[in-house]
Amino acid sequence: MTEEITREHASSSSRLDGRVAIITSSSRGIGRAIAIRLHSLGARVVLSYASSSTKAGLLASEFNASSTLSQPQAIAVRADVSDPDQVKLLFNRAEQEFGSIHILVNCAGVLDPKYPTLANTTVDDWDMTFNINTKGYAAYAASKAAVETMTKIVAKKLKGMGVAANAVAPGPVVIRVNGGSVV
Ligand SMILES: NC(=O)c1ccc[n+]([C@@H]2O[C@H](COP(=O)([O-])OP(=O)(O)OC[C@H]3O[C@@H](n4cnc5c(N)ncnc54)[C@H](OP(=O)(O)O)[C@@H]3O)[C@@H](O)[C@H]2O)c1
Repeated sequence: MTEEITREHASSSSRLDGRVAIITSSSRGIGRAIAIRLHSLGARVVLSYASSSTKAGLLASEFNASSTLSQPQAIAVRADVSDPDQVKLLFNRAEQEFGSIHILVNCAGVLDPKYPTLANTTVDDWDMTFNINTKGYAAYAASKAAVETMTKIVAKKLKGMGVAANAVAPGPVVIRVNGGSVV
């Protein structure tokens, strides 16, 4: 057993008995730690992974082996979060096994450890990162947040060059109607 998997005696208000959680990217890293925590609080967990099937499967087995309950407490399901069909299958499989889903921890995320500059990031790498990191959130809001962050990065890059980078994020705007058409 790689981690000690125990059921905590948390107060009833903090227990998650009867709750079902999907945690993406929970075969390792932060997602795995979150899965262990949620399981320790009583939740049944869906361990979603992209490539680490052995790790995810072993963790699910450990959760199930540590339980005195007859029903499974964990399943491991492969799902590439950049593929909407696979995400749909993930939810279908989770509902099939456990019924309603109460918690979603969208932990899947990738980061190029070389931290390439914008100019050195290929379009494929850009698309891959965005597909994995932002799908599953409200696309519009996520893309706008990305624009704000990108603007800060560009602003830092341009520092001292006399060029400003700004993002304007207006609230709701009434569009001027001109002769019946929206301008
Ligand atoms: N580590 C940090 O310091 C840090 C700091 C701030 C935020 N975060 C964020 O926290 C999250 C987890 O980070 P981490 O460091 O624990 O992870 P990590 O060690 O960088 O591993 C990446 C994780 O993402 C999963 N993954 C990669 N591509 C995927 C895809 N297409 N679909 C679904 N899952 C995919 C991998 O699953 P497989 O192994 O199954 O391929 C793996 O579990 C990420 O969103 C990261 O951006 C991390």
